[in-house]
Amino acid sequence: MTATLFVNAGQCVTCAGAGRARRGNEMKDAGVRHNTGVAIEGERIVAVDTDDNLRRAYPNATEVDCHRGLLAPGFVDSHTHAVFGRARFEEQELRATGVPYLEIARRGGGIHSSVRDLRSRSNEDLFALAVPRLKRLAAGGVTTIEIKSGYGLTVHDELRTLQVVRDLAGAMPLNVVATCLGAHEVPFERRDLPDGRESWIRELVDELFPAVASEGLAQFADIFCEPGVFDQAESRTVLEGARAAGLSLKLHADELHDGGGAALGVTLGATSVDHLAAISSSGIQALGASNTVATLLPATMLFLGTGKQAPARALLDAGAAVALATDFNPGTSPLTSFPLLLTLAISELRMSAAEAWLAGTVNGAAALGLAGVTGQLAAGYYADVAVHDASDFRELPYWFGERLCRGTWARGLPCHPPM
Ligand code: NIG
Ligand code: FE
Repeated sequence: MTATLFVNAGQCVTCAGAGRARRGNEMKDAGVRHNTGVAIEGERIVAVDTDDNLRRAYPNATEVDCHRGLLAPGFVDSHTHAVFGRARFEEQELRATGVPYLEIARRGGGIHSSVRDLRSRSNEDLFALAVPRLKRLAAGGVTTIEIKSGYGLTVHDELRTLQVVRDLAGAMPLNVVATCLGAHEVPFERRDLPDGRESWIRELVDELFPAVASEGLAQFADIFCEPGVFDQAESRTVLEGARAAGLSLKLHADELHDGGGAALGVTLGATSVDHLAAISSSGIQALGASNTVATLLPATMLFLGTGKQAPARALLDAGAAVALATDFNPGTSPLTSFPLLLTLAISELRMSAAEAWLAGTVNGAAALGLAGVTGQLAAGYYADVAVHDASDFRELPYWFGERLCRGTWARGLPCHPPM
């Protein structure tokens, strides 16, 4: 097998270290190196060393010239809803006039609007709509992406969504992880039925989760645990059912109001709890003392215009493992630029550049149970690599809104440009 060498980098941000979530002082060091390149063979990194040493060790290798740019691990986007139909731009204006997000949903818009839309589309249509979105994420440096269902809200349409995710995983070089979010909402048509909520929860537990697990269509189950959507007791029932079916757990927790979701996630051994803009101080303490990753989605809070963000510093100070993700979805975060998240992490969440990089790589991988295989430039890890047109790792968050990624490789295969 011939090796490929990434050489002539101006700087290399390795994020190298333990293959597990980082926290506390470990978040201070993103492993920035100078005069450092990367050798890959097949789908793995085989060496991280000086260009001279790499050339000596792999004399027949082909070379990728980084043109003095920034050599980095691919980002891990551990929370997206990338399979959907149309955009929901009308809701952005509606919120600006003072109609809150949950009120739009109460009126039958929001998630319900995307559900009606998805149900009317074929798998082929949904696949074709998702491909360019995934390409845009890859064009920002992402090499691993989690994709949730949750706009089907019937057993049939949830399974169909996850089949589209499987097709995407097979068609694109990105690493794709699937999550069943059948508990995104109570289906609109059941909302006013006497047994509506309970019947959907029963169907999730008795039919959807076992089917998803037996067909290997998802590794995780997720729920929107939020006052007014699914309360704590319902969330527990759903998540225990998912776990019994063999799925690992994630929660949309404490996004707009504190619903005790973070602490519930810790109690149930969830892999991650996500959002957390309204987390309580006891929730912060519970997360700090746990292995559950705290995934922050600052683009969502910005786009919703809530003027509020998750208490990232308090979470970091409590020792929580903080990750960053786009939450890419048509309602609350139509964002495909991962580097813009790093900007928000520093300017809105008060994180350091090193913390932001580690949150978007190693800790994102940990939020998917993948910290042993991706998220860092180190021998043995997947060849998930990005080259950015920047001379310093702090420049990527600095030039905010710019598209500086010049190339992305997932497991050694080029994702951008072109796929
Ligand atoms: O993470 N909050 C719940 N789910 C998504 C938004 C879904 C939508 O509005 O379509 C989120 O923000
Ligand atoms: Fe989400």
